Amino acid sequence: MKLTEYDLKLIEKDYDRISVLIDDTKKLNRVCRRINKLTKGAVVRAINSDEFEKKSCGEVLSISFPGSITAKYIDLIKWVKPGQLHDARKAGVNLAKLSGDSSVLIYIGSQKFSADFIKGYLLRQYSFSEYKTSKITKSRSATLMLNKPLDFKKSLEEIKATVDGVFFTRDLVNEPANILTTVEFSKRLQKLSTLGIEVEVLEEKQLSDLGMNALLGVGQGSANPSKVVVMSWKGGAKSVQPLALVGKGVVFDTGGISLKPAGGMEEMTMDMGGAGVVAGTMLALAKRKAKANVIGLVGLVENMPSSTAQRPGDIVKSMKGETIEVINTDAEGRLVLSDVLWYAQERFKPSGIIDLATLTGAIIVGLGYENAGVFSNDDNFCETFMNAAALENEGAWRMPLAPAYDKKLKSRLADMKNVGGRDAGAITAAQFIQRFIKKDMPWIHLDIAGVAHIKSESTYAPSGATGWGVMSLNRLISDKFEDIK
Ligand code: BES
Ligand code: MN
Ligand code: ZN
Repeated sequence: MKLTEYDLKLIEKDYDRISVLIDDTKKLNRVCRRINKLTKGAVVRAINSDEFEKKSCGEVLSISFPGSITAKYIDLIKWVKPGQLHDARKAGVNLAKLSGDSSVLIYIGSQKFSADFIKGYLLRQYSFSEYKTSKITKSRSATLMLNKPLDFKKSLEEIKATVDGVFFTRDLVNEPANILTTVEFSKRLQKLSTLGIEVEVLEEKQLSDLGMNALLGVGQGSANPSKVVVMSWKGGAKSVQPLALVGKGVVFDTGGISLKPAGGMEEMTMDMGGAGVVAGTMLALAKRKAKANVIGLVGLVENMPSSTAQRPGDIVKSMKGETIEVINTDAEGRLVLSDVLWYAQERFKPSGIIDLATLTGAIIVGLGYENAGVFSNDDNFCETFMNAAALENEGAWRMPLAPAYDKKLKSRLADMKNVGGRDAGAITAAQFIQRFIKKDMPWIHLDIAGVAHIKSESTYAPSGATGWGVMSLNRLISDKFEDIK
């Protein structure tokens, strides 16, 4: 996206589309007045039409092939006092959907919420066409004409950093599992070091020495080695304890010996969604040089059935030292998280910890594709996250935790079993994870099974990976974890 100063001559250049905001006064700004003149009054006729009248804030009426103008379309974007930032983002999303790959000249003058308009536009300009042989050459370009472009430069850079983070997550989540193996995933994360993130890859031998047998058990049936990747962004003061973000990175979840049914199994390429969000958030933090200390940790494994695979009934000893009876090898995410969470707390003594995982089908039964399940042992911490998510328009709904649910994890032979039965499946999964959170450690668990990857399009993304969570975490960090001493 290019920024440019107000210049009426640009209207005559060969942009495919010219897009302008029409506020409720319907007073034409200078750009609209010129276009109106060149089109012999088409702009005024359009904005006084019933069709435009019926539209709500953020919706667009386009004039096609207007007279005496090179542009193929003039987009009139209804801008009736966007009450909230998501009206503004919706306007941007709508424009992105209309404009596709064409070149657009956008004039937004100096409207309030223009940053969110641009954020919506950029977020929706995403496609994943890596494996379409006849790739359309992406010529998409947008020029943003502003009265004072310099004032907007800094916020545009911040927006771009966040959007790049969201896109990094979406790309990872959209990749098929034959390409994004544990090895390839760790390679892509290692490249983040060019942005100033310290990246460390722990291999199976090290994981075994650390005692991460719960994680290793999940990956033992796969030809692809298990890995834990640690990403450190040290943008804050040395004395400040970091925030830790932990992601489930199951690059493919067949269910293991407790094999999943064939129908829909291909969706399990997204089972590394939690790790994807952690990676995307780290990228956004580094790109905008956040003044915060954040450690991102991901457990990368593949859950396969084979002669070396873990069996139902196996008992493993976790890094924490507690034993787990693996009743169902398809409840693998919690096994991976238990060891990575324990390691994160032991090594980094974080001030708080947030884990993200496409953990249960049960959370989809409960909340559908609109909200992630939020579990926490700390009301304050949880509230700050919920506020950040609300501001970023990413659905999040708090779920309960209680000792009564925890009881369901009792095992006859070991310290616990890895499943708690069909009822309250998302909650018993969260209870399992909580067993690996130290006393007094502020913790949030986000079950993103329903929101990480969606078959139909979502608010800011086409069908497929959404990048849900990157924006909320980025905002939580900028609001609560930056510039502290
Ligand atoms: N990765 C799945 C959860 C999932 C389901 C993610 C649908 C995205 C969409 C997880 O590993 C799993 O298999 N969970 C089981 C747990 C059960 C065996 C206790 C489930 O939800 O059925
Ligand atoms: Mn599973
Ligand atoms: Zn899984």
